[in-house]
Amino acid sequence: MMMPSDVTRLVGVAREAAPRAYSPYSEFRVGAVAITPDGDEVTGVNVENAAYPSSTCAEATAIATAVAAGARKIDTVVVACIDAVDISGAYPCGRCRQIMAEFDVDSVVVTAGDGSEVRTHTFDELLPYRFG
Ligand code: THU
Repeated sequence: MMMPSDVTRLVGVAREAAPRAYSPYSEFRVGAVAITPDGDEVTGVNVENAAYPSSTCAEATAIATAVAAGARKIDTVVVACIDAVDISGAYPCGRCRQIMAEFDVDSVVVTAGDGSEVRTHTFDELLPYRFG
């Protein structure tokens, strides 16, 4: 279980990554951190493409990078949608939730805009009755 001070720090790490997003089409910058059971903190950003469906979300990038480094489980994913005006527009998409399911994510932290509102969810809350 993460301490509140860890959550605050990790939200900072995700927010710091977000401006590195490659999102010239949506202009919606997202940063994510995948935290492994070893305590590694792997960042990702959304990487868009002129062929829009070829784009990748920040969460998927972070998880794929962590897996490439050897992780087979991800404890927590922290997502910062710094261009989302409201936290309701800052939640992971369905595809990313399915990717999280594959690596047995326990909890997801979401934040929008200036980061003043931070919500922590169990993964079960975000994707109940999942396929696996
Ligand atoms: N996006 C993410 O990277 N993560 C989310 O949680 C929501 C959406 C990206 C996909 C696309 O590049 C842009 O944000 C707008 O949808």
